[in-house]
Amino acid sequence: MNVLVTGGAGFIGRWVVKKLLSENVNVWVLDNLSNGSEQNLVEFDQINNYQGLTIGDISDISCVERVFKTQFDVCIHTAAQINVQESLDNPHKSFRVNMVGTYNVLSCALKSKTKVILIGTCMVYDMATSDGISELSSVKPASPYSGSKLAAEELALSYYYGFGLPVTVLRPFNTYGPFQKTNMEGGVVSIFVQNHIAGENLKVFGDGTQTRDLLYVEDCAEFIVRAAFSENSAGEVINAGTGRDISINDLALLICRDLNRIEHVKHHHPQSEIQKLLGSFSKAQKLLGWKPKTPLEEGIAKTEQWIKTDYS
Ligand SMILES: NC(=O)c1ccc[n+]([C@@H]2O[C@H](COP(=O)([O-])OP(=O)(O)OC[C@H]3O[C@@H](n4cnc5c(N)ncnc54)[C@H](O)[C@@H]3O)[C@@H](O)[C@H]2O)c1
Repeated sequence: MNVLVTGGAGFIGRWVVKKLLSENVNVWVLDNLSNGSEQNLVEFDQINNYQGLTIGDISDISCVERVFKTQFDVCIHTAAQINVQESLDNPHKSFRVNMVGTYNVLSCALKSKTKVILIGTCMVYDMATSDGISELSSVKPASPYSGSKLAAEELALSYYYGFGLPVTVLRPFNTYGPFQKTNMEGGVVSIFVQNHIAGENLKVFGDGTQTRDLLYVEDCAEFIVRAAFSENSAGEVINAGTGRDISINDLALLICRDLNRIEHVKHHHPQSEIQKLLGSFSKAQKLLGWKPKTPLEEGIAKTEQWIKTDYS
């Protein structure tokens, strides 16, 4: 099995690479290192099935065509512009990377009949009701990030319906764990854990009542790899939530255990905030036999351990 992972030097991508290598798959990575790093991949250098990193941009068609000279069975497309604030500051970049980049991947995949696993996001959904978000829940492009990710999904599915290309859209909920950055390009768990370790206040945007359904990254990688090898996933949109959400206030308290260190600050982009994100995994369980394994407390402890010992 030959698999290309775009964005494989990034946070989720490197865990997907690790999982694929543990299953003896031959893995190639394409990444422009705009938010990933070669350091995230060094531990794979000695593994025979790891075929290496091409440093290149998915929005450059000639680069994507060069990479697709290898015949891949599956392309797991994780590369994206991921920062909501950056998408508001520079929507053109979201358009170029998330839409043009995805088009380039799809057009090369079509020529070589390569299955595409598009990593979408829960950030395309409108706010959850108390029942949580299913794949049929309504969507709302609250920022150019989510708008461009939704457009990429639609484009990908058009290749399934229009050309019969096997395409699957996966929507993981907010993912956290080791290798996630602790700055604004990272995620709330790693930022709070870093603040906690450094003895700094944890800054909560807005009133902190907004909730997140937090998925541990190794569970996310397993979900993605199962979908990549599944016979049942073509043409499907599949969520990966944990079925539990937590407010940002409660998350901050869980991490630092001290109300005095929680500081509420003005939200940078309240208009693009989603008040309640709570996902289900029932479709993923039915189609892929997947369910999340890692409780939030355990995932936070693993993240803290990694930041303390390995993150520089
Ligand atoms: N982190 C989350 O909570 C989360 C949740 C759901 C979905 N997602 C999706 O998962 C995917 C990966 O997210 P992540 O959190 O690992 O982010 P990340 O930024 O760590 O990974 C993305 C990778 O893509 C690379 N990249 C960006 N632009 C590129 C380009 N033009 N050409 C080639 N490579 C490029 C970056 O260098 C980076 O290594 C994204 O598609 C994101 O939308 C993330």
